Amino acid sequence: MQNEPEIGKYFSIHTIFALRIEGAEDHYEVMHIFTRRTFLGKSLQLAPLFATPGLMAEQLTRTPYQTPGPFYPDKLPLDTDNDLIVINDALTPSVGTVAYLGGKVSDIKGNPIRHATVELWQVDGKGVYLHSRGGSRKKMDPNFQGYGRFMTDSKGRYFFRTIKPPPYPGRTPHFHMSVSAKGKKKFVTQCYIKGEPQNKSDFILNRVKDEKARNSLIADFLPLPGSKVGELAANFDMVLGWTPED
Ligand SMILES: [Fe+2]
Repeated sequence: MQNEPEIGKYFSIHTIFALRIEGAEDHYEVMHIFTRRTFLGKSLQLAPLFATPGLMAEQLTRTPYQTPGPFYPDKLPLDTDNDLIVINDALTPSVGTVAYLGGKVSDIKGNPIRHATVELWQVDGKGVYLHSRGGSRKKMDPNFQGYGRFMTDSKGRYFFRTIKPPPYPGRTPHFHMSVSAKGKKKFVTQCYIKGEPQNKSDFILNRVKDEKARNSLIADFLPLPGSKVGELAANFDMVLGWTPED
C-alpha cells in the first residue's frame, strides 16, 4: 500500500519506537527501543501515563492551531527520526531531562489519522533552536537533533523521545508540532508543559481564549515509573478538523 510507513524515509532504522497496546485498551507499552548498535530491550510501562480515556466523540476538543514561529529548522538535520536525543549513532546524548512524548492524532469524531507525518521541533537544553537565528550557536548542544518526525501508525499514534525544553526569553517552555498528510492543509500547533509558571502569562498560549481549548495544549509530564534518571513521559493527543473532503 502506498501509504505504509517506509523505513528509512521517516524512520531511521537505528531507532524505532515500537508501540503496542497490552491488556486494557488504554495501556500503551513502549516495547523496545532498537538501535543499530545495541538492542536496549527497554520495556517501559507507560500505562498510567498514557491512559487515554475512551472519550465520546462529542467530548473531543479540537486542538487549537498555533503559530509555527520563526524557528522551524532552516536546514533539516541529517537524522530526522523520532529520537531527538541521539543523532545517528552518536554515543553522547543530548543535555537535558529526557522526555517521552506520544499520543494519538484523530479527527473530531475520534477516527485515527493514519500514516500522517508528525513533526516536532524545539529548543535544546540551552534554549537554542536548530535555526541559524534561533539562539547562540556557541551555546548550542551539538548532540541534540532539534527536529524529528514520525509517521502515525494504523491507530493514529506517534511517539518521540526528546528532552524537556527549557524556557527561552519571552516564552514558556513549549514544543512545536505539526501534522501533515497528502492533500491536507498542514496543521501546526504547540504543546506546553503542565505546571510551568510562565504558562499563565505566555502570549501565544493565551491567544487561545477558550479555557478548555487552551488546556488541551498543555500536557502532563509525569515521572516515568522505574526511571533512575528522572525521565518524564506525557500523552498529547491532537484532534484535527480534517474531514475526508479536505
Ligand atoms: Fe518556539
